[in-house]
Amino acid sequence: MFEPSNIAPLPTAPAALPPPPSASTLPRAGDAEFAMTRTDFEQVRRIIHRHAGIALAEGKEAMVYGRLSRRLRESGHATFAGYLQHLERTVAGGGAAAEAEMQLFVNCLTTNLTSFFREEHHFAALAEDLRARAAHAAAGAATGAGNGLRLWCSAASTGEEPYTLAMTVVESLGAGARVEIVASDIDTQVLATAQRGVYAADSRGLSAERLRRHFQRGTGPNEGRIRVRAELARLVRFMPFNLVNGDWPRLGQPFDIIFCRNVMIYFDMATQRQVLSRMHAALKPGGLLYVGHSENFTEARELFRLRGKTIYERV
Ligand SMILES: C[S@@+](CC[C@H](N)C(=O)[O-])C[C@H]1O[C@@H](n2cnc3c(N)ncnc32)[C@H](O)[C@@H]1O
Repeated sequence: MFEPSNIAPLPTAPAALPPPPSASTLPRAGDAEFAMTRTDFEQVRRIIHRHAGIALAEGKEAMVYGRLSRRLRESGHATFAGYLQHLERTVAGGGAAAEAEMQLFVNCLTTNLTSFFREEHHFAALAEDLRARAAHAAAGAATGAGNGLRLWCSAASTGEEPYTLAMTVVESLGAGARVEIVASDIDTQVLATAQRGVYAADSRGLSAERLRRHFQRGTGPNEGRIRVRAELARLVRFMPFNLVNGDWPRLGQPFDIIFCRNVMIYFDMATQRQVLSRMHAALKPGGLLYVGHSENFTEARELFRLRGKTIYERV
């Protein structure tokens, strides 16, 4: 149970993926549960790149083996070649079956590492920016959006990042702020976790004060878990969205702020460029793009100018 007790019971969490074996533990041909050849690996690379923009590096065979073997087991295939043929055939057939099969494939191959208040300096800057935008809007200035700000967390993973945005909104503008946070990811499995909003009580990045203010503690069978309070959850709207092949108009009105952190590192330069120009179009004039600490887009000068540490302003 969570306190207060008028909260629906926690849905059963999906089983976790087994950890991928490291290169040294990859079964040798003959010992392996599933046969995987170099050609199969190349085919996986082509499909994931075409569909999700993810550029899998050379030498990631062990990772691919570890992440996809559960899918082979579930779908009753003894070899990667057999599974990949089934995947390509299903996809060629189109329709809902194709989408579902491709989604399961993609969910296996994404890397979803995240935490609350990751790269914390961004949230002090965000709080300051939110206050400035809200004051500007309240003064009836040219943004025309009243106090209604739109934020997009475009690689939301298991939800720690969008809920961190929501905590920052509540702490800087109050619980009644007119803010919408759209939280999307290509991976539907992590999005389901995000939507539940239930985490381990010792999750990284949360101070004791924030734990108390923004989360309910579970009791009984939910001992050791926490759940985001309704005032945070109401700010966030989750939706699946593929940054590479997505239907961008579906995102609606332009955003004030986009968080796109630690996802472009998986894309090649051409894909990064394409996503950046779409992000430019999805932002209001003067809108901000927050990126990961190891991402650098300073050469896209005609789209974005550097405004702070890994924070860009739409040109
Ligand atoms: C390493 S996590 C980063 C999570 C969070 N932004 C952070 O910095 O903590 C990368 C996320 O990008 C998502 N992703 C990968 N390719 C994507 C694509 N083409 N469209 C949308 N999301 C994608 C993955 O599913 C994963 O959840």
